[in-house]
Amino acid sequence: MKQELALLGGQPIINRKFKTYNSIGIEEIEAAKEVIESGVLSQFIGAHHADFLGGPKVKAFEAQCAEYFGVKHAITVNSWTSGLIAAVGAVGIEPGDEVIVPPWTMCASATAILHWNAIPVFTDIDTKTFCLDPKSVEANITPYTKAIMAVDIFGQSADMQALMAIAKKHGLKVISDTAQSPGAMYQGQYAGTLADVGGFSLNYHKHIHTGEGGILVTNDDKIAQRLQLIRNHAEAVVEGMGVSDLSNMVGYNFRLGEIECAMGMTQLKKLESFVKRRQQGADRLNQKLANLDSLTLPYVMTAATHAYYMYPILLNIEYLQVPRERIVQALQAEGVTGLANGYQNVHLLPMFQKKIAYGSRGFPWSSDICHRQVSYAKGICPVAEQYHDRSYMGFAMCLHDLSDADIDLIAQAFHKVWHNLQYLKEKDMVAA
Ligand SMILES: Cc1ncc(COP(=O)(O)O)c(C=O)c1O
Repeated sequence: MKQELALLGGQPIINRKFKTYNSIGIEEIEAAKEVIESGVLSQFIGAHHADFLGGPKVKAFEAQCAEYFGVKHAITVNSWTSGLIAAVGAVGIEPGDEVIVPPWTMCASATAILHWNAIPVFTDIDTKTFCLDPKSVEANITPYTKAIMAVDIFGQSADMQALMAIAKKHGLKVISDTAQSPGAMYQGQYAGTLADVGGFSLNYHKHIHTGEGGILVTNDDKIAQRLQLIRNHAEAVVEGMGVSDLSNMVGYNFRLGEIECAMGMTQLKKLESFVKRRQQGADRLNQKLANLDSLTLPYVMTAATHAYYMYPILLNIEYLQVPRERIVQALQAEGVTGLANGYQNVHLLPMFQKKIAYGSRGFPWSSDICHRQVSYAKGICPVAEQYHDRSYMGFAMCLHDLSDADIDLIAQAFHKVWHNLQYLKEKDMVAA
């Protein structure tokens, strides 16, 4: 018997609440309690001093992260936004330098570049991975390009082999923004560790979290030292440390506290199982949704694994002939939550459209530090823009807390909507 869509007054498929996402357990509570009872919530000192690198939990968490991700240095910061700012400064970006960045990211990937008065150059995404398209990167390189910000979006690494080869050919630095993909693998290495510097967000929404926070990873001793300096008031410290390269040695307080680092240590132990659980959930959905028409399920590169921060889906709207918004509404009415109706294109934000960042007079674009006028006009990233407007539908599932039964209900909701799309279209045409 045909089931009426909940959008049109029928019974929704999902009529119970799924378990609320919470990765904090008794271990984190104990870890935080121990620090609180010690009374030392942060041991950093912003001077050339034994505590310049922080207290025991900061150092222990950093050592644990370095071992886990297989890198020489891990450096904690109080957010991944801070981490990105430190990374751009540490690789030696100068005012007016151009840095390539994809439009599909969180705005901090681009504003971290602007922060050093450098110029973000938005470059289109790959049609399958939604990460930077190496061909677009190559096409956007100018004599002023100094770095690539490779964003590992939705849970999967960018094509680092291709990007690192381009960087080598053109003498560019590479920064990995792996905020959304901790624990994903690329050619046997953790995503985020193949670049000159990379790292992860520890904000509440991520696979593992400490409320707020970030972890920088690098194998480069000089970059590591510059990151540590920018994190902790560089300008006041360089002299004592005998640092002679003063470029970008403007420091901040980007220090992460002892409580967060103590909790981070227990969270890191859970990362592998959380990622595995998300992968199992995504595999289950893949199987259950495989025979639905005009739905492209997540693509995973060969020799890579996906950590499923999002479950990214593409719709063939031309074929389905129902607007994406209507499909999303129908799924939501069936009780599917966490749907993203498109993904933001950062170049279309007012800051870039109006070229107003620092002050009101268009700095840095209006100043003579810019070598040329970079365009942010609609049309510069056709794949990202078309997907945003029509095809992309993300699904934030926080999968490690969903049971198989929950996932089966979600799949049933998709099936119900898909089987009723023609009917929905006809109803909408009559109502129009
Ligand atoms: C791709 C990306 N970059 C940067 C950030 C910023 O991280 P944070 O919130 O830790 O500052 C995020 C956070 O959502 C992100 O998803």
